[in-house]
Amino acid sequence: MTQTIPTGNRDDEIQIYDLHKSFGQIEVLKGISTIVRRGEVVCVIGPSGSGKSTLLRCVNLLEQPTQGRIFILNDEITDLDADVDEIRTKMGMVFQQFNLFPHLTAMQNCTIAPIRVLKKDKAEAEGNAQANLDKVGLGDRGDAYPAQLSGGQQQRVAIARALSMDPELMLFDEPTSALDPELVGDVLSVMRDLAKSGMTMMVVTHEMAFAREVADRVIFMDGGVIVEEGPPDEVIGNPQHERTRTFLRRVLDPTHVDTGAEDEAYQQRHAADESKATQGVDTSAHSPER
Ligand SMILES: Nc1ncnc2c1ncn2[C@@H]1O[C@H](COP(=O)(O)OP(=O)(O)OP(=O)(O)O)[C@@H](O)[C@H]1O
Ligand SMILES: [Mg+2]
Repeated sequence: MTQTIPTGNRDDEIQIYDLHKSFGQIEVLKGISTIVRRGEVVCVIGPSGSGKSTLLRCVNLLEQPTQGRIFILNDEITDLDADVDEIRTKMGMVFQQFNLFPHLTAMQNCTIAPIRVLKKDKAEAEGNAQANLDKVGLGDRGDAYPAQLSGGQQQRVAIARALSMDPELMLFDEPTSALDPELVGDVLSVMRDLAKSGMTMMVVTHEMAFAREVADRVIFMDGGVIVEEGPPDEVIGNPQHERTRTFLRRVLDPTHVDTGAEDEAYQQRHAADESKATQGVDTSAHSPER
């Protein structure tokens, strides 16, 4: 089959072609190809270590692929000459760790990057941020500092912050897996609303009920490859591959306790660069916006 790469279609928002990623001798992604279309919600599921986070991190170039090409809205982020920061402004990112600035209020967390990176004026940035805080159900908590908010509320601020960059698409990596169970629902409900509003979303999740309800397409990964993908009723409801069935049996087993949370070493390895990428501004040295 001959295919034009990239397709040239603006609705093909994320195009991934033959993506490989190795860490040292270990090949973690072994040739991933997929296209995420405008308004599509794609949930990526699979066992721990299958490469889900690495895939997402390659999409925004937090990891440099070993081989393959990735296009965001037909701009190649893997091109050596690409303006990666500019392409990243099109993608909102929400990770397991919320990475909010602890010394800034919820409102300031949502306005700092629009002001510094998008050069919006303060009033416009605050208006937009307020609308996004309203959207995540925290319209009255703009003055709160992260430490004064629950984990679920902080994650919702992180979503509002990502939305305040007016992204064309959103990437989520297990946004609820660090949360106490009673706080998960509110975050999923915000994500459900976002999906309904037509946002393009690529979501790594172990929340099978959410994937089944909200996803247009589910990708099951194992061992660095896409084993199967399709509508949730097929992939989760009637999986064709034994590996998918085994995985689902395990995660859908009510006695199963694995939350999918990564280990501490992993989190430390990734926290700093995720923080930089999600906020579009350096976390280390700056004064609060006034
Ligand atoms: N920066 C890194 N350096 C070395 N190895 C890494 C790095 N990042 C990931 N890996 C390894 O790559 C493999 C895939 O990791 P990845 O985090 O993508 O898996 P995952 O599917 O997201 O798993 P989980 O469900 O536990 O989050 C793992 O074996 C992991 O240890
Ligand atoms: Mg992961």
